[in-house]
Amino acid sequence: MRTQITVQRFNPDRTPEHFVSNYSIECDRGTTLLSALLHIKNQIDGTLTFRASCRAAICGSCLMQVNGVQKLACRVSLHEELETRGRLEIGPMANMLVIKDMVVELASFWKKIKAITPYVVADEGAASGAPTRQRAQQAAPLQNIHEELHNADGCIMCAACLSACATFEVSPGFLGPAALAKAYRFVVDPRDKVRQDRLMMLQEDHGIWDCVRCNFCVSVCPKEVAPMEQIVRLRRLSIAAGLNESVEAAHITQFTKVVGEEGRLNETRLPVLMLWGHWRKLFRMIPLAIKMFLRGKAPFPFKRPKGYKQVQAIFKSRTDRNR
Ligand code: SF4
Ligand code: SF4
Ligand code: FES
Repeated sequence: MRTQITVQRFNPDRTPEHFVSNYSIECDRGTTLLSALLHIKNQIDGTLTFRASCRAAICGSCLMQVNGVQKLACRVSLHEELETRGRLEIGPMANMLVIKDMVVELASFWKKIKAITPYVVADEGAASGAPTRQRAQQAAPLQNIHEELHNADGCIMCAACLSACATFEVSPGFLGPAALAKAYRFVVDPRDKVRQDRLMMLQEDHGIWDCVRCNFCVSVCPKEVAPMEQIVRLRRLSIAAGLNESVEAAHITQFTKVVGEEGRLNETRLPVLMLWGHWRKLFRMIPLAIKMFLRGKAPFPFKRPKGYKQVQAIFKSRTDRNR
């Protein structure tokens, strides 16, 4: 079958503007996008530039946008893509500085990974240096560790998740899904001695509380690392470790408290509990609170909805079970 591939290109040696190239190639059911690109580079246009190595979805280097979605070129079947999308338009991954064609600057991605201390710190206070010898996991808890990791150690560093991340798009300082999933991987490692320090570092600006839970990182990850789910686990572990002073952590703890006590979400009381002590933020909420009340969006404090006792009972039984 003959098909056309449209490529978004950038070659600063030729022109400072982005441009488009169309290539017509033969493909069959087994042709991957990467094999098509290699054919184009070797037979049609040697200037086409992209990264690739393993051809087997292991090295993570061939990530690009395929019909607007971040994908590994070596895992994309041209036939399937044409069947589902009816076209083949490719370009560099989103939200990254393009160096040439599909090659993007990944320095900020690696900087984020480095920032979470991506190795086991087996001696307290030794976070400044990478380990110099192997520290094998004890055999007994291996199964438990495997379950705890939830595949967070399956990352191949392709950067698809960072490129798709809604927070990173507007806040480049955000640590990002891959680095946070990796942080989780070390927080739950029983050999690591700086778990609390790791959790404290993740409370800072650009840490776990900046994720807006858009789920894009989960949907594009080719290795089912599910970074957002690891971030949610880090949030739970942080609160359990007593790190609940941020407004975002207070939102979770006070939300649960209000619903447990009243059997409903009391949107009049919740912001006050959440922002208690953060006076400037609390006063800034007053005009919004008045507007909500006037439009019936904030509940009257003494009126309880039907069924609130059942909700209270559910919360009580859950609390009793966790004791
Ligand atoms: S869920 Fe969070 S980390 Fe994942 S892409 Fe969305 S904002 Fe980024
Ligand atoms: S978490 Fe998934 S999408 Fe993100 S870098 Fe790792 S393998 Fe790629
Ligand atoms: S070439 Fe290695 S992941 Fe595609």
